[in-house]
Amino acid sequence: MRIFIRAWRQKNAEAEGKMVTYALDGVSEHMSFLEMLDVLNEQLTFEGEDPIAFDSDCREGICGMCGIVINGLAHGPEVTTTCQLHMRSFKDGDHIDIEPWRAKAFPVIKDLVVDRGAFDRIIQAGGYISAPTGSAPEANAAPVAKHDADDAFSAATCIACGACVAACPNGSAMLFTAAKVTHLGLLPQGQPERDSRVINMVAQHDAEGFGGCTNIGECTASCPKGIPLSTIARLNRDLLGALSRGEA
Ligand code: FES
Repeated sequence: MRIFIRAWRQKNAEAEGKMVTYALDGVSEHMSFLEMLDVLNEQLTFEGEDPIAFDSDCREGICGMCGIVINGLAHGPEVTTTCQLHMRSFKDGDHIDIEPWRAKAFPVIKDLVVDRGAFDRIIQAGGYISAPTGSAPEANAAPVAKHDADDAFSAATCIACGACVAACPNGSAMLFTAAKVTHLGLLPQGQPERDSRVINMVAQHDAEGFGGCTNIGECTASCPKGIPLSTIARLNRDLLGALSRGEA
């Protein structure tokens, strides 16, 4: 099929960006969205133009590197990662707008690539445990209730892609922060730092310039891993509890 890509082009963080339209022929419905961009970039390179910069790594929906706003939606029309989106979701003659994640805390580096270092700094603020590591302990030494184990595992599936931030009208990263607080906070190994973790991670979230959560829910609707909005409610409970205990 023949499609028209209207892509955000921005040479560097300081340059002004603009949307530029490219026509692309021979797009197969079996291509992934990123494979389609690879073909477009080959065409641009062949024509002597700068290829469109975008992030990717695993291309299997597990690393969280890819992320493009496609026709106004984080990761496009399917609830999945950009690398797992396929061209069968589009049709011949479609015009497709592609933009980087839009958020003050995710400055554009080039074209569709943004700096998501803010997520790393939130993790550094509390996404760890101090329990001694070593060989795997005996499985029954620290019993964990099934529902806690399930909720911790489901929170741990967050791949930190940033779709929640891109989708949120407030540019809030509260779903990401809540997932990281929850997956350690529900397990016995995460208890010693539970209070300081939630306080420090939320403080870092705010310091990075992410907006506040007003329970709109766009984050969870666009999350490729289906992290539920209730994860944020759990973070709020943890935060209020920690503050009432006088943790800082
Ligand atoms: S490239 Fe790894 S999740 Fe998309």
